[in-house]
Formats: sequence, C-alpha cells, structure tokens
Amino acid sequence: MENNKYFFVCCTCGEKIAGFGPWFAHQQQCPACGSKWVDVRYQNDPAGIQQLIADKNTRVESFFHYFDYLPLINRNNIITSGEGAIPVERWAFLEEFAQHYFGTNLTVLVYRNDLNGGTGTFKDVAAAMAASVLKEHGIREYCVASTGNIATAFAFYLAKAGISLSVFIPEDALKSNEAGVSCFGQRVYRIKGDYALAKKICAEFSKKYNIPMSGGNIDPARVEAKKTQVFEWLRQLGYIPDVYIQSLAGGTGPIAIDKALNDIRHLGLFTKDPRYILVQPSGCNPMTVAWEKAKATAYPDGWTQDFPIFNSPQTRIPTLANGNPQTYPILAPLVHKTNGEFITFDENLHVEVSRLVAYETGIKAGPAAAIAVGGFFQSLQQGLLQNGERVMINLGEGTDRAPDLLEEMIYTTIETDNVANCSPFHRETLRSKLYKPFLP
Ligand SMILES: Cc1ncc(COP(=O)(O)O)c(C=O)c1O
Ligand SMILES: [Zn+2]
Repeated sequence: MENNKYFFVCCTCGEKIAGFGPWFAHQQQCPACGSKWVDVRYQNDPAGIQQLIADKNTRVESFFHYFDYLPLINRNNIITSGEGAIPVERWAFLEEFAQHYFGTNLTVLVYRNDLNGGTGTFKDVAAAMAASVLKEHGIREYCVASTGNIATAFAFYLAKAGISLSVFIPEDALKSNEAGVSCFGQRVYRIKGDYALAKKICAEFSKKYNIPMSGGNIDPARVEAKKTQVFEWLRQLGYIPDVYIQSLAGGTGPIAIDKALNDIRHLGLFTKDPRYILVQPSGCNPMTVAWEKAKATAYPDGWTQDFPIFNSPQTRIPTLANGNPQTYPILAPLVHKTNGEFITFDENLHVEVSRLVAYETGIKAGPAAAIAVGGFFQSLQQGLLQNGERVMINLGEGTDRAPDLLEEMIYTTIETDNVANCSPFHRETLRSKLYKPFLP
C-alpha cells in the first residue's frame, strides 16, 4: 500500500520505517536495532491541527476528527463507535473542598472517559485505532495480554472489524472483563498467574503461530490514539492544564500526552507541559516505590532503570495490577522533567471515593477511576497542588465492568417489614460522613 502520510522513527537508533506495513513485516520491531519504541511522524504540516481545534463549541464525532494526524491511510478502514468524543467537565465540589480544607484555589477538570462510545473506558480510542490499522493491513488475527479493560475494548473493536482476537488475562481479572471479551466471540485465556505471566504466554503464542501481538503501552497505534486527548483539551478548553492526574498501570496516557505536546510544541499553543501526577493503588505500586527511592537518593546514575518487580500483586483494583513496570524507564524521566510525582492512594478507600463522586455528580466512577480521584485527595494531602492551578483528572472508567464495586457502594439501605422502622430522610445528612475519609 502506498504510504505518503506517515512514517516511524526508531526512538532507540533513529532508523526510519515506512509505517505499519514494514512494521508488521518485521514483527513490530525496528529492522535495524530490534527496538519496539518508535515515534510516528506525519507528512501533514502540524499547523493543520490548529484548524481542527479551532471550533470550541461543536462536539466532534470521534477522535478520527484528527484523521490527518493518525497512522491510517484510507478512511474506509476506520472502525469507530464514537470514542474520544467526550467532554471535559468541571467538578465544583472538588474545587470547594480544596478551597475549604486546604485553602487552595483550583480549577478541577475531569475528562469523562467513562462516556466513550465503545466500552466506556479510556482504552477505547486505542482499540479503535488498532482495529482500523489491522483492517488496513489485512491482518485477520491478533492477540493481546491485558489486566482487563484493554481486553474488553480490543474484543469489541476487533469484532466490529471481523478480526479474531485471543486475549490473555491474569487469574484475578474481573469476571465481567472476561465476559466482555467472550460475549463478542473472541477467545479468552485465563492464565493461572499474574499479568506478567499472561504477557509471557501471549508472546509465546504470538511467536508460535505468527499472530501479531499488541505492543503494550508503547504500541504506536495506542499512543497515537491517546495523544488526541491533548487536541481535545485545546479544542474544548483552549489551554493545557497545569497538572494531569491519572491512575497508573503502564502509563500509555502520559507517554501519549508527551508525544502530542512534542508534535505541536513549535506552534505556540501552550506555554508549559503539565506536571504528571501518576497514581498507583496501595496494593500494586512498584513505580511509586522506585520513585520514592530515587528521590531519597537524589536520582543517582541509572535511577530510571532501578525499579522493583512485584510478583502476583494483591490489589483490589485488578485493572491496575501491573507489577512489572517495564515502562518506568520511559515514564520516570517524563515525571521528573515536569516536576511531577508518582504517588500511592490507599486502595481500601476506593469505594468511599466512588460513593462521594456518585453523591455529588451522579457519575458512577469505576475502580481505576476512583484511584485517580483518590489521587487528587492524596495530592492535596501531600501539598502537590498550588493556588491558581488547573488540574485535569482522567476519569478512566465507569462501573460497567465492576458490578462488585457497584454493590459495595450501597450504604443507605434499611431492611424492614414494618413502617415503624421507616422515617423521613434528608440526603444532606450523609455529606459530612462521605467527606470524612479525605479530610486533612
Ligand atoms: C480505567 C483505566 N484507567 C487507567 C489505566 C491505566 O492506564 P495506563 O496504561 O495509561 O497506565 C487503565 C489500564 O488498564 C484503565 O483501564
Ligand atoms: Zn532502531
């Protein structure tokens, strides 16, 4: 296929690769050095992005609004379900909380990934991009290892493209994630082990049958799709937030944001990069542990390569159960250069976060989303947010795939067989209890 639109440059050796055609032909590695990390470059002038972000008011149909800056040649290959066309909201209750208890004046913004058209998570854009690319290159079978949400999103979008998918999930993945793959007629392998083992077996499967495997957090399809959130912020807000808070498993989010900012840096659309505050759940926080150690020892030589590996991490947030943080060497310099932080949120409070969010907004935040909002509270506690800052929280998912969490959010039920036990009720009285776990 003729490709005059985009090419890859190897981040390790600088080799130029003529796009996904040769990429798949070389087992998704740089033909010169074997690296799996590439930067996607476009022939189209990046200045064209200014046109695409000019209209602040209309809702775009999907992230394919930015087609000219995505690694797909033929629009007929687009597989979409309205993903990426999601609003940035302002959450006044968090602004009031920060003001009242910490004396910090903030603008709190929330990127509603739970509203994505496909499967309602922040993995949908990545999966839509991958499905479109695979279709364009005539790939009929694919495989992926996942803690859950990527599996569900890929299963949905590849089914839409008529592509068969084998998914490798760890033994503790949510049952509803398994259902979300299987119900579309895609294959599930539930691995008797953790995510690291699921990845290993998936890689062996890929090699044995020559079926391409999704390249994980640095897969160019995933990164290019997720970079469009930056364009949407510029389109909807007209600025880049000062702080970006996301719950962290492998970190495609910040990698993609950094990629987008680098692409448009010379256009003068923003003045500084956001500080990345990446939040891990207390049951699986290897990157935070590595970071704390690096900080305490003043970032010694080789600090970005020094991280622990947690085998079979025990966490209540299975979507974030990535115990072997292979992307830390990429993320750590990013966080460092922006004066950001890796932090831990006490995952035992995730139900309390979701109850509070539902009480104040009517939005049912899923487990990984609760960790991100929890990270906002944690950031206040640690003094990481400054007066006047605009803080973006990536709300990654709703409760669709976490029925257990939804059940745990029940807290107002009284069982009775007698009206004598029933009395008038004022929901206002719940408020102070809901905020209590997050007070300074
Ligand atoms: C809802 C949600 N938020 C955050 C993450 C973490 O994403 P990342 O790979 O960017 O660390 C995941 C990963 O599965 C997720 O599903
Ligand atoms: Zn190379």
